Amino acid sequence: MFESIRNMVRLQRDTLGTFRELSRRGDHVFFRVGHVRMLLLNHPVLIKQVLVTKQKSFEKGAYIRRLKKNWLGSSLLTEEDPAIHRRSRRLAQPAFHPHRLEVYAQAMRESAVRLSDSWKDGTEVDISAAMEQVTIDAVGASLFGASLHRNKQEVTEAILALLRIRTPLVATPWVRLKEAVGYKPAAHRKVIKRLDDFIYGMIAERKCDQMPSDDLLTMLVQAREESGGFDEQQIRNETAALLVAGFETSALGLGWAIQALDAQPALQEELGAEATNLSEFAWDSLPRLPRTAMFMDEVLRLYPPAWSLQRVAVEDVEIGDRRVPRGTIVLMSQFLTHRDPRFWPEPEVFNLDRWAPGVRKKASEEFSYFPFGGGSRVCIGEHFARSEMIVVLAMLLKKWRFKLQERAGFQPKITLHPDRPVIARVSAVN
Ligand code: HEM
Repeated sequence: MFESIRNMVRLQRDTLGTFRELSRRGDHVFFRVGHVRMLLLNHPVLIKQVLVTKQKSFEKGAYIRRLKKNWLGSSLLTEEDPAIHRRSRRLAQPAFHPHRLEVYAQAMRESAVRLSDSWKDGTEVDISAAMEQVTIDAVGASLFGASLHRNKQEVTEAILALLRIRTPLVATPWVRLKEAVGYKPAAHRKVIKRLDDFIYGMIAERKCDQMPSDDLLTMLVQAREESGGFDEQQIRNETAALLVAGFETSALGLGWAIQALDAQPALQEELGAEATNLSEFAWDSLPRLPRTAMFMDEVLRLYPPAWSLQRVAVEDVEIGDRRVPRGTIVLMSQFLTHRDPRFWPEPEVFNLDRWAPGVRKKASEEFSYFPFGGGSRVCIGEHFARSEMIVVLAMLLKKWRFKLQERAGFQPKITLHPDRPVIARVSAVN
């Protein structure tokens, strides 16, 4: 009992330190937090079993259930029923097809150029805010296409408002009570209503639009007409889910990339030169940025924005040689696995040559590297996010070099945040 309360306090005070300490106990680490039985899995083979081979024995768990119940509803992100989830995934998939990414890449480039043009030599830039703005632009453009420009302010405000209605990760008894009686503060209700009005307005526009648009929202509306079953509420839910899932992680990835560059001025020059060699950026330029792509792979290894995943066993199940009882919360950490010396020699060293052709695929298949998760719930936005981060970095490094005021440490929330504002002085490339 004493141990389980101690775990709760330690996890809250020093989440990463506690994870690290637990991981030293072995590959299966059972422990308790309050009355909940937890299991930290500390080996890629075991992680793969949970996410892929035995995924039917697991659900995403309480946090996602609460997100679904409180305001997001059933969506790709929140649906636990495998059949409904599969259908959502099938309907949304065409919007993430490589030929669609080609269209989005232009929007990504334009938003990075707009940001870059707004800086002057010596400007002090709040990196987190700047990267959020770029990634909001990119996900907004993919969802709402050309109409984003008309509604830019509204989209940005809606997304930023979403941040304020975050569901807390841990439901204290007080939070549970409020949720049980359906209580939502007036400010939250207002934000949700504004978001809903905006999305429903966009859906109505798509339905009577004479000019066919080819954005994601149009695809969801058309999917409804063709397959007879995606109603307006679901379209709203899918749209809101993509807004939630689609910008913060990429913004964090870009923020950590700037931190990594600050520590390696020679690398800034090298990647800057790679970007400058591209005279005009087009979709087929991406393969001509191989070092920038390898750099981002290494950033996602050492600073994975999704730093841990959680599942709940819905039945008794064997993982490795151990029985995992129903109800156990299983934790798998990208942060720990990506820094495990058994799979990564000199794991703390930033070395982009680890990503020479052929290596990444193997690491991902074996789950020693899984920044985007795995199995049927693998991130649908993986290629979108990778392209986005490469394009944005290249566009910024074409003109600017970064020097941080102070490097940040880690603040692990649901995603991996810096523990202080990241402010960089930008200087123009001569
Ligand atoms: C660096 C950027 C990103 C990272 C690190 C990331 C990471 C992840 C991870 C780890 C998962 C799996 C969660 C789990 O299994 O519990 C996930 C799921 C998801 N991501 Fe991403 N993501 C990123 C960007 C994006 C973008 C740009 C979009 C959309 C435009 C997106 C949309 C989604 C959706 C909808 C899911 C749920 C998929 C499903 O359950 O079928 N993500 N993401």
